[in-house]
Amino acid sequence: MKIAVIGSGYVGLVTGACFADLGVDVVCVDSNTDKVQRLQRGEIPIYEPGLNTMVEQAVANERLQFTTDIAQAVAGRSIVFIAVGTPSSEDGSADLGHVLQAAQAIGQTIDGFTVVVDKSTVPVGTADRVHAVIARQLQERGVQHAFVVASNPEFLKEGAAIDDFMRPDRVVLGLPPGELGLKARALLDDLYAPLTRNHQRTLYMDVRSAELTKYAANAMLATRISFMNELANLADVVGADIESVRQGIGSDRRIGYDFLYAGLGYGGSCLPKDIRALRDTGRQYGVRLGVIDAVEEANAHQKKVLLQKITTRLGEDLTGCHFALWGLAFKPNTDDMRDAPSRYVVRELLRRGATVCGYDPAAMAEAHHAFVHDLADQPDWLARLRLTESADAALAGADALVILTEWKAFRTPHFGKLRAALRQPLVFDGRNLYPPHRMQAEGFEYHAIGRCGPA
Ligand SMILES: NC(=O)c1ccc[n+]([C@@H]2O[C@H](COP(=O)([O-])OP(=O)(O)OC[C@H]3O[C@@H](n4cnc5c(N)ncnc54)[C@H](O)[C@@H]3O)[C@@H](O)[C@H]2O)c1
Repeated sequence: MKIAVIGSGYVGLVTGACFADLGVDVVCVDSNTDKVQRLQRGEIPIYEPGLNTMVEQAVANERLQFTTDIAQAVAGRSIVFIAVGTPSSEDGSADLGHVLQAAQAIGQTIDGFTVVVDKSTVPVGTADRVHAVIARQLQERGVQHAFVVASNPEFLKEGAAIDDFMRPDRVVLGLPPGELGLKARALLDDLYAPLTRNHQRTLYMDVRSAELTKYAANAMLATRISFMNELANLADVVGADIESVRQGIGSDRRIGYDFLYAGLGYGGSCLPKDIRALRDTGRQYGVRLGVIDAVEEANAHQKKVLLQKITTRLGEDLTGCHFALWGLAFKPNTDDMRDAPSRYVVRELLRRGATVCGYDPAAMAEAHHAFVHDLADQPDWLARLRLTESADAALAGADALVILTEWKAFRTPHFGKLRAALRQPLVFDGRNLYPPHRMQAEGFEYHAIGRCGPA
């Protein structure tokens, strides 16, 4: 089977590499020439555990190629995935510019029956728009090729993307009714067969339901996070421990333990933009989505909670204070800095006059780009930010340690060394990594989220 994947980012590259690993002939396309050249040289432009080896092997086995030439990529391929970005527009709606551009290029190129698959996260109704764009291009070319636009939302998690892709909880396939829909289903079933051999995991539905399923999944996850964050803020003032509460409710099988960690609020490349896009869909159709509104509002508040703890303890004016930051990526095992809480915290610390030294096990290059971009209008703030090559180096002479990402490497530090490196034993933990009683026993003043205030 021969497929093309348009967009070679976190989703497109993982999709292409995994299918190639399963024996499919894959060509990955990207409009970013630099990215494609790096991939052609064997460099993986993102940090994703296991991806390097998988791409290397697939290329060596001549099952995976990279190109910027969409026409060359799409020609002769029966399945074409669209996996380009769908960032937020200024008004919060999903910007479909890249998706529709890809659709146009597909319409200009296809030369036989083609299943076009939206893997990007796109609002309800996008498949119809993609269909219309392709149909118009075919009409302009004066050719008639049958095609189907299907929805196959992706649920992988950055940091565990390969495992999620290869062992999915479910494969959601949204297909149009009729003969062509059935033909597309047969092709996609073949493609996904290696992933569903153990048991049937494919959920077939209509296209709009599949599109909405992706937003519903992310909205549910974001809701759990915001819910726990609100309760953590309450726990802080009533003297309860949110971690005990999490275990207390997680043990209920109807609730479960996942996505109930209190912290700095959700960030990253998906939840924030997808919540905004879902709200926009509600607005467009005149449907009140009060829970979703509240989730976003709670998250916007939560971003500020750790900073409030810092200023309550050290004052609004942080001139002369030096902070060590552990963790810059929006979550562990990725270098993704999109909507990372560290971007807000760093900006606010610098704005208040502090100096900051940050470290992340994987995101140093991405963090550098992100902060240079964010602080382009404030060069004197940027001058007070340094990124270091190790967690220990970040600590030297700091007035406090601030933890922003729950990397495994930060979970069991040598507390004696940590205490010795800091000017005072003060830790602000936005990820609740340590038991408060342990921190107290180790002699730290420990401020976490919803953990009975300072230990
Ligand atoms: N990152 C995730 O964890 C994740 C998980 C599930 C779903 N998604 C969704 O998948 C989509 C892609 O996300 P991502 O994180 O991989 O984005 P990304 O920004 O990492 O990658 C998108 C790629 O598409 C390329 N591109 C844009 N327009 C193009 C065009 N016209 N032709 C060819 N290439 C083009 C860009 O250069 C970029 O390399 C989004 O809709 C996202 O919401 C992401």
